Amino acid sequence: MTSTKDQKTLSTAQVHSLQREAPFDLSTYLAERQAQVEAALDSSLPLTYPEKIYESMRYSLLAGGKRLRPILCLATCELAGGTIEMAMPTACALEMIHTMSLIHDDLPAMDNDDYRRGKLTNHKVYGEDIAILAGDGLLAYAFEYVAKETKGVPAEQVLQVIARLGRAVGAAGLVGGQVVDLECEGKLDTSLETLNFIHTHKTGALLEACVVCGAVLAGAEAADLQRLSRYAQNIGLAFQIVDDILDITATQEELGKTAGKDVQAQKATYPRLWGLEQSQRQAQQLVDEAKAELASFEERAIPLMAIADFITNRTH
Ligand code: IPE
Ligand code: IPE
Ligand code: MG
Ligand code: MG
Ligand code: MG
Repeated sequence: MTSTKDQKTLSTAQVHSLQREAPFDLSTYLAERQAQVEAALDSSLPLTYPEKIYESMRYSLLAGGKRLRPILCLATCELAGGTIEMAMPTACALEMIHTMSLIHDDLPAMDNDDYRRGKLTNHKVYGEDIAILAGDGLLAYAFEYVAKETKGVPAEQVLQVIARLGRAVGAAGLVGGQVVDLECEGKLDTSLETLNFIHTHKTGALLEACVVCGAVLAGAEAADLQRLSRYAQNIGLAFQIVDDILDITATQEELGKTAGKDVQAQKATYPRLWGLEQSQRQAQQLVDEAKAELASFEERAIPLMAIADFITNRTH
């Protein structure tokens, strides 16, 4: 048996070599990061007056979910030599922005969904008025939170993160994608080019911001930012293709949201254009291309590689 004293005498090199020998386990990694993110999110948004709006914001923000966006941000910050602490406020902000997009996406004026993350949607519980305002509140708070809570990072880098977040969520990103998504509902002749625009904007832009912002906070150089950005663009498109596939193949229990909604709403999706099998192959190819971008990071890229695989293997 090794005593505590012996453990303390392990050199950093020995610790690293032990870590290399232990195979990377994605479920353990995700569970650990999810727990850290849950705790940070919970303390980021205390319940205060007017309680109704904070309750509604907390209802959706703390409803679970994979926490993929914050985890990606933390992982790239670490890959680029930064710490979890440096990236946690941005990681939380990304989940606030994502949650806003889900609350608004579910509204009757948009996808009109009743379930999200295994619970009733925000507007079903609090009403449409409060759901709209909860989304607004989360979006605004995300920016305040990054600006006020980021510690140990040069102000210039924090400013860059704020600018990237704004671009990713605005009309040049997520909002633009959502607009074209709605415009193409019921249009059976949507082209592949338009479909790619929808997916890379409504979903890809924010995922790219997660990855790139993590690296910006750590002070990564331009060439690395470009590699990570290409990785993220590929997994972003793959992620939405898989979301479209799961809408057809998974159950409501697995998804935590109503299945089969895309066909019902005549949404422009990959399976509609290409069928399930070819869509799955396309997602796999994008994930392979994403992983190839990480080659130069060697073992530092193990978590991002595994997360890329998770995107095509996931069941929810
Ligand atoms: C759902 O995102 C919306 C899309 C962009 C497809 P997620 O599948 O990441 O949802 P949560 O956060 O795990 O609930
Ligand atoms: C949602 O795409 C993208 C955003 C929320 C920005 P979907 O409409 O396909 O997402 P789900 O299926 O409702 O989660
Ligand atoms: Mg939608
Ligand atoms: Mg939707
Ligand atoms: Mg969907």
